[in-house]
Amino acid sequence: MIELRNVSKSFGGKEILRDLSLSTPKGKTTAIVGPSGTGKSVTLKHIVGLLRPDSGQVLCFGTDMATAPEHELYAVRRRFGMLFQDGALFDSMSVGDNIAFPLIHHAPEMTAKQRRERVLEKLKAVGLEDKYDATTSSLSGGQRKRVGLARAIVMEPEVVLFDEPNSGLDPITSDEIDELIGKMKVELGITFIIISHDIVGTINVADHIAMLYGGDLIAFEPTDKFVRLDHPIVKKFLKRNLILPTGPNEVARLPSVE
Ligand SMILES: Nc1ncnc2c1ncn2[C@@H]1O[C@H](COP(=O)(O)OP(=O)(O)OP(=O)(O)O)[C@@H](O)[C@H]1O
Ligand SMILES: [Mg+2]
Repeated sequence: MIELRNVSKSFGGKEILRDLSLSTPKGKTTAIVGPSGTGKSVTLKHIVGLLRPDSGQVLCFGTDMATAPEHELYAVRRRFGMLFQDGALFDSMSVGDNIAFPLIHHAPEMTAKQRRERVLEKLKAVGLEDKYDATTSSLSGGQRKRVGLARAIVMEPEVVLFDEPNSGLDPITSDEIDELIGKMKVELGITFIIISHDIVGTINVADHIAMLYGGDLIAFEPTDKFVRLDHPIVKKFLKRNLILPTGPNEVARLPSVE
C-alpha cells in the first residue's frame, strides 16, 4: 500500500536518506524509530509528497509520489490522516471546529448537520464526546493529542501518519494514546505509520519496527523479532531507551532484552 523503493535524498550536499526501501503492511502499525536528525520526519514527508526524492520511487496506493503532478498528490493526500508532533490545533477554534476543518475543505458536499454528526462520532471514538464546544486551550496535553487524532480520522482515511504520538506526555497518558491507536487499528482497520522516540510505547503498539540510522534502514522486523535482534545499534537503542526514567513498570513490561 505504501512502498519506498531505493529512495535517496540530500539537503545541501548532505545525504539524509540513502537508497531507502521500505514497505508498510496494510492494516498494521509500522513504527519508524531512530535517533534525532536521522531522517524520520523526512521519510514521512516523502510519503505524503511534501518532499520529492532525488532518486527512487514513493508508491502510495499505486501513485508514485516522486513524479505525480500536484493534483494527483492532492487526491492521494485525501486518503491519509496526518497527525503532527505538536497536534497543530487552531487555538482560535473550538474542539469541534478543529475536527470539522478537513471536512469543510475536502468534503464540501456534506451539510452542517452531517459534519456535526461525523465530528461527534470521531470525538466519541477518542473518548471526548463532551468536548465539542470546548476551547482547545482548556485541554490537557493528552486531550490535545486525542483531538488531533479525531481530526486525523475525520475523513475516514485508510492510513494515518503519526509523528511522535507520545512526545510530551506522561507514561500513563502515553499508554492511553497507544491503546487508542491499537483500538482504531482493530475496529477501523486503519494502517498506522508512527514515528517515535519512545521505544516502550512503540513496542506496545507496533506490529513492525523500522530503524533508521545515519541515512540507512538498519532493521525492519516484526516487533517481537526486532527486540531480540543481535544488532549492536538496535541493542544500544533499546538499552538506552530502557534506562530512561519512565518508572520500573514501564521497563518491566518489555520483552527481555539482553
Ligand atoms: N527541508 C529541509 N531542508 C534542509 N534540511 C532538512 C530539511 N528537512 C530536514 N532536513 C535535515 O534532514 C535531517 C533529518 O531531519 P528529520 O527532521 O527527518 O529528522 P528526524 O529523524 O525526524 O529527527 P527528530 O527525531 O529530531 O524529529 C536533519 O539534519 C535536518 O536538518
Ligand atoms: Mg522528526
